[in-house]
Amino acid sequence: MPNPTRIDPNEFRLMRDYIEKICGIFLTEDKMYLVETRLTTLMVESGCKSFTELYYKATTESTNALRDKIVEAITTNETFWFRDESPFAILDEVLFTELAAEIHAGKRSKIRIWSAACSTGQEPYSIAMTVLEFARKHFSLKPEQFEIIGTDISSAALYVAMAGRYDNLSITRGLPGDLKQRYFKPVGNVWAINDEVKRIVTFARMNLQENFFHLGKQDIIFCRYVLIYFADEFKRDILNRIGGLLRPDGYLFVGGSESIVNYTQDYQMLQHTRGLYYRVRPKEVNRARSMGL
Ligand SMILES: C[S@@+](CC[C@H](N)C(=O)[O-])C[C@H]1O[C@@H](n2cnc3c(N)ncnc32)[C@H](O)[C@@H]1O
Repeated sequence: MPNPTRIDPNEFRLMRDYIEKICGIFLTEDKMYLVETRLTTLMVESGCKSFTELYYKATTESTNALRDKIVEAITTNETFWFRDESPFAILDEVLFTELAAEIHAGKRSKIRIWSAACSTGQEPYSIAMTVLEFARKHFSLKPEQFEIIGTDISSAALYVAMAGRYDNLSITRGLPGDLKQRYFKPVGNVWAINDEVKRIVTFARMNLQENFFHLGKQDIIFCRYVLIYFADEFKRDILNRIGGLLRPDGYLFVGGSESIVNYTQDYQMLQHTRGLYYRVRPKEVNRARSMGL
């Protein structure tokens, strides 16, 4: 008799295609174990006797509850404070100075930063702390001139992000002691982020498969450690749409171990002593490049 908690290759393909359809995450054959380990509990709790049954239940239910639970189970929410360090150093040492000059020249009044796939909030809050630290040192920018938005497909991750409360383990991961002291306070056995930081960050649930133009033009986009889960075509699509959302000369950060050069020519790679980042190329330059000029 087949073991219902073991996924067979046909069931794997069924679930794999379904998962890619609902959230873009592309699982290669060597990830059979991952579908099995992450979805077995859900399968049993939903009263299903096999992964095939789970698939049919999810695709025929009138609400999206089971579909959303599959997304929650399959997404990886690993994140930590000031991940890779270099993006935050580049904000502090290069981009904020440049943007402050534009504000003072009257070219703009706000600086808008989007953390796409923000997980439990460490990334947008690290950006916000970088803003606050910059404002403390330079006075040329005010925190209220920033709008930082974090989005993610996972409601569970966003719940933590919006609460801004972190346990003893997650608070230590990457967060310098002085920033912990300045921007967090202990509440019971968790650490709560200050209103000063929270005030400049908002959160929203968003699937990167959906149109995101309603977010409005952005100056800087963080799209880190999420493209790695997607198939090449979807990576290209997202990078192309992000290019359209960035204002001319806007900046993109991807993860330290990620590269976008094989997926798009829309960005110019910039080097900083601490790491790489990208600037969206003006449309005319792209047209000229595609014509071989
Ligand atoms: C590994 S975390 C990265 C978090 C953060 N950007 C960082 O670098 O620390 C990946 C996040 O991508 C989210 N994600 C996966 N697929 C998504 C999709 N289709 N739309 C939006 N977010 C997605 C997951 O929920 C997860 O929180």
